[in-house]
Amino acid sequence: TVRALTDRYGRVATDLRVSLIDKCNLRCTYCMPAEGLTWLPSERLLTDDEVVRLVRIAVTRLGVDEIRFTGGEPLLRPGLVGIVAATAALDPRPQISLTTNGIGLTRHASPLREAGLDRINVSLDTLEPERFFELTRRRRLTEVLDGLDAARAAGLGPIKLNTVLMRGVNDDEAVPLLRFALAQGYELRFIEQMPLDAGHVWRRDTMVTAAEILAALRTTFHVEPDPEHRGAAPAETWLVDGGPAKVGVIASVTRPFCGACDRTRLTADGAVRSCLFSRTETDLRGLLRDGSSDDAIADAWAGAMAAKLPGHGIDDPSFLQPSRPMSAIGG
Ligand code: GTP
Ligand code: 5AD
Ligand code: SF4
Repeated sequence: TVRALTDRYGRVATDLRVSLIDKCNLRCTYCMPAEGLTWLPSERLLTDDEVVRLVRIAVTRLGVDEIRFTGGEPLLRPGLVGIVAATAALDPRPQISLTTNGIGLTRHASPLREAGLDRINVSLDTLEPERFFELTRRRRLTEVLDGLDAARAAGLGPIKLNTVLMRGVNDDEAVPLLRFALAQGYELRFIEQMPLDAGHVWRRDTMVTAAEILAALRTTFHVEPDPEHRGAAPAETWLVDGGPAKVGVIASVTRPFCGACDRTRLTADGAVRSCLFSRTETDLRGLLRDGSSDDAIADAWAGAMAAKLPGHGIDDPSFLQPSRPMSAIGG
């Protein structure tokens, strides 16, 4: 029996985002400290079979039709190709996408495509090698750019780029990044930074806003609203110089899109989060490991989503950042 993951506000979650690992091979300053974080112990990580079982329950019993694998950095998960292949074998077959920093794509893009991966989103905050090093604390920009080439060559597409602009750090690169994306045929999206950093240093007044990003782009490009319907997508899209090329802005803070949210999330250790900003989680790992039925797991999942809050509440005076950082929730 299929039932939907509905909440009290009439939203239906059909998009599952699965974090496969909390580790990463970069150390972006707005995400993680140089020394990394305390990683999940291996016995708490879901096994590949457990991940696939939960994805199957979501797709066959809970009406989920789109799966995105995230991290940490999902390309660091040894079983990724097998997990994608098992997901692609489900009936009905969901759309399958991946959010990655791009490192390792030169090796993994083709096997992932062959396993059934449809689309890929790659994080890229700068095109300048020295700045990439300052931002990520690693000298690996070339690997990211080569990874993008490999993804395109493997037929993964459309390829989207995600950029977080930070004041005084890379906010002078809006135009160069868009030029690069247009030349390469990638869809670039600028993301407003959210209070999800491990160090809890996010401040509203240092965040580069959607309005500022659009103003920067308009110094150089003609940018007009995309007439295409946005649906539940986080990105508002704009036609660049008359189209068909587009640029996106994900304005989670200044123009929240929670009212249309269609997302449910699974952490690498098997907890359902109804929202990036949830203050509570529903553990499914215990149910997986104590012999619970698919029905019981589906019930617990539906219960977790029924309690989803109307929005992230970043603007509320009582707002508290979730205890898990972005890297342990999945982007
Ligand atoms: P597509 O546009 O379908 O490719 O997916 P996407 O934009 O959801 O995917 P991606 O993983 O690339 O997410 C890009 C960024 O959007 C994330 O890093 C977040 O900053 C933001 N984002 C994604 N989902 C949510 C969400 O549910 N809430 C909020 N506030 N931000 C989100
Ligand atoms: N706010 C917004 N986006 C973030 N990302 C990481 N941390 C944050 C944050 N605090 C982005 C990364 C990557 C995507 C998965 O999430 O830059 O593109
Ligand atoms: Fe959905 Fe929460 Fe993101 Fe809002 S912040 S769009 S409710 S996941």
